[in-house]
Amino acid sequence: MDKINTKLVKIDPNNIDYEILSEAALIIQNGGTVIFPTETVYGLGADALNEDACDKIFKAKGRPSDNPLIVHITTMEELSELVDEIPQNAKILAKHFWPGPLTMILNKKDIVSYKVTAGLDTVAVRMPKNKIASELIKLSKCPIAAPSANTSGKPSPTNASHVVDDMFGKVDMIIDGGSCEIGLESSVIDITSETPTILRPGGVTKEDVEKLFGKCDYDPAIIKSDDKIIPKSPGQKYRHYSPKAEVILYKGNLYKIVNTIKNDCKKFIDAGKKVGIMATTQTKDFYNDGIIRIVGDRTNPITIASDLFNELRNFDALGVDIILAEAFDDRGIGKAIMNRLEKASSKKNELGKIKILLVCTGNTCRSTMTEGIMKSIINDKNLDIDVSSAGISAIKGDKASNNSVLVLNELGIDLSSHRAKQVTDKMLRESDLVLTMTKQHKDILLRSFKGLDDKIYTLKEFTKDNKSFDIQDPYGGNYDVYKSCSIELEIEVKKVLDILSISNTTEPCK
Ligand code: TXA
Ligand code: MG
Repeated sequence: MDKINTKLVKIDPNNIDYEILSEAALIIQNGGTVIFPTETVYGLGADALNEDACDKIFKAKGRPSDNPLIVHITTMEELSELVDEIPQNAKILAKHFWPGPLTMILNKKDIVSYKVTAGLDTVAVRMPKNKIASELIKLSKCPIAAPSANTSGKPSPTNASHVVDDMFGKVDMIIDGGSCEIGLESSVIDITSETPTILRPGGVTKEDVEKLFGKCDYDPAIIKSDDKIIPKSPGQKYRHYSPKAEVILYKGNLYKIVNTIKNDCKKFIDAGKKVGIMATTQTKDFYNDGIIRIVGDRTNPITIASDLFNELRNFDALGVDIILAEAFDDRGIGKAIMNRLEKASSKKNELGKIKILLVCTGNTCRSTMTEGIMKSIINDKNLDIDVSSAGISAIKGDKASNNSVLVLNELGIDLSSHRAKQVTDKMLRESDLVLTMTKQHKDILLRSFKGLDDKIYTLKEFTKDNKSFDIQDPYGGNYDVYKSCSIELEIEVKKVLDILSISNTTEPCK
C-alpha cells in the first residue's frame, strides 16, 4: 500500500489533552484511521459505519477479509443501534463486565455492514474501559471498528513502540497512551445461543461467566487441537501472535519442562542457533544458557498476561532464532495465556507427568513408606507426578513390613496391598528421576546400570539436606524406630514435591 503520513502524538490517560484527542476524532469522522490504546491491547480504529474507512483497516493490517472487526461503543444506547435485540444474558454480562475486556457477539442490524462482520449476520461489540479509548469514541460521535493494531499474524501491540514498528506510514494517527494494563485481547463471547460460549479466552474468564449463569461453554475449536473443527471466531483459525523467531512450547510437569528446555537450549546453541528462553520468576535461576527473559510470576498470572506479547516482541528485537517457552496452568486467565502461546508456537512438546522411582534394599520399608506418603500428597494436591518403588535386592511379592503398615495407617495411608519389586533396567530407563535412600544404593545402581548419572540422587542429596547423610534403615526396629523414620521421610517428601512443582522457595537443583 502507499505510504501515509502518520502523525504520532502522546496523550496522558490521567490528564487527557482534549485538543489532540479532538484532532483524532476529526480524522475518524473524515473516514481516516487512528490507533489508540485500550485496556487490553492497542486498537486500529475507523468509523464502524463507514465501509471505505473500514476497508483501510483491513489494508493497513494486511488482514484477510473473512476476519470480522470488533465495534467499540461507550453506551448501551449505542448497542441498541447496532444489534437486533439485546438478550437478557447480554444485559447481565454488560452490567458486570462493561466497560472492560469483554466482546459480545450479537445479531446485527442492517446498519452494520457485511464488510465489518466479514459477511456474518452477527457483530462483535465491546465497551472499552480505557479513558482515551472511550473519550475518542464519544468525541467521534460514532462507533469505532478496531482490531488489534498489529500487522496480521504478529503479536498484538501493548505499547506505542510496538505500534510504531508495525503501523508507522500505514495509518493517519497513532496515539501513544502508555502501556496496556491487561496485555491480552478481550474475551470474545457468543450470546446468540442460550449458553454463553467463549470463542476467544481473555480477561473475562469462563469461571467469571459461570458465576453469573451457572453455565458457560468453550467453542470446541479452542479446547481441542483438531484442525478439522472450524472455530466460530474466524480469527482463531489463523496462526497468530507469532514473532519472527520460531516458538517451541513445552507442556507438562514444570520440573520436566525446565530440564528439557535446559537440554534443548544447549543442543540448539551447539547447532549455531541464537536461543531465547521465556522463563518466570520461579524458574529463571534454573537456566544457565541462552537469552533468558522473565515473562512474569507464576503465583500472579496477571503479570504473565500483561507481559506476554511484549516479551515475544522483545525476543525479536534481540534477534533470537528460537524461543523456548514454558507452558502455564490453563485455568482462569491462564486459558487466555495458553491460547495465545499455542497459536504463537509452531511446535509443542508434550512432556506429560514426571515419573519418580524410589529405591531401597528390600522394598518393604523405606522406599515403600516414601511411596505411600508421596502418593498421598500427590493425590491431595493434584500434582502431575507418577511414583513407584523398587528394591536393589527385593524378594518379589514380599509385603510391606508390619511396622511400616502400622505407622502409615496412622496417617490414613494403606500399605496392605504393597508387594515388593526388584529394580530393573526398564524401570530405571522409564523414570525421569530416581531417588535412593542411601549413598550406597545410589553407588550400586550407578555401577550396575548405565546412563543414570543425570537422574539419580539420594533423597537427601536431592532435597539438599545433606549429600552424604542417609535415611537410616529401620528394618527389625520397633514401632518407635519406624515412626521416627516416617516423620523424617514425610519432611523429605514434602521438600521433593516442592522442588518438582517449582515453588517460590525452591533453589535450583544443579
Ligand atoms: O481486546 C480486544 O478485543 C482488541 C481491542 C482493540 O479491543 N481487539 C481485538 O480485535 O483483538 P481483533 O480484530 O484483533 O480480534 C477480534 C476477534 C477476531 O478473532 C474475530 O474473528 C472475532 O473477534 N470476531 C469478530 N466479529 C466476530 C463475529 N461476528 N463472530 C465471531 N467472531 C468474531
Ligand atoms: Mg488481533
